[in-house]
Amino acid sequence: MSDQTNEAEADATRPAPPVDAPDVVEALETLPRRRDQLLPALIAAEHALGWLSEAAIEDVSVHTRIPLSEVYATATAYSELRLEPPVEGRWHVCTGVTCRQAGADALLDALAGSGESAEPVDCRFLCALAPVAERGGALFGRCEAQRLIALAVEDGDRS
Ligand code: FES
Repeated sequence: MSDQTNEAEADATRPAPPVDAPDVVEALETLPRRRDQLLPALIAAEHALGWLSEAAIEDVSVHTRIPLSEVYATATAYSELRLEPPVEGRWHVCTGVTCRQAGADALLDALAGSGESAEPVDCRFLCALAPVAERGGALFGRCEAQRLIALAVEDGDRS
């Protein structure tokens, strides 16, 4: 029996993945069902949902055929993966070394001083665009406080 036949039979007997959101399942289906796809699968699920819910982590476990405990351990090991839903309207400002050198602390102060909700986060691995901020799943690079405040005012949901 070929490996493909064994894989197809294994798929047929595997329980359906927990459906968190159709977008998560669709995003995972674009990736091979392999162990080496764990991190890409977690990132894809987070991009699809905006964060990694327990169900999304289960979806990744089923898709990659990696035990749930291992998937959860990986998800919690990477600070850039979000395990809580984003707070609407809150800015997340990277305070990694590069962003700090590019003015992240001043950015946080300016946002707080203007009444914006903002919190520091770890490196987002977009260091070339420092300082980096994120809000509602959208990433902004080479941030200037006035531009971010203006965006928040345009959105009309200062928090
Ligand atoms: S230090 Fe800010 S994105 Fe890396």
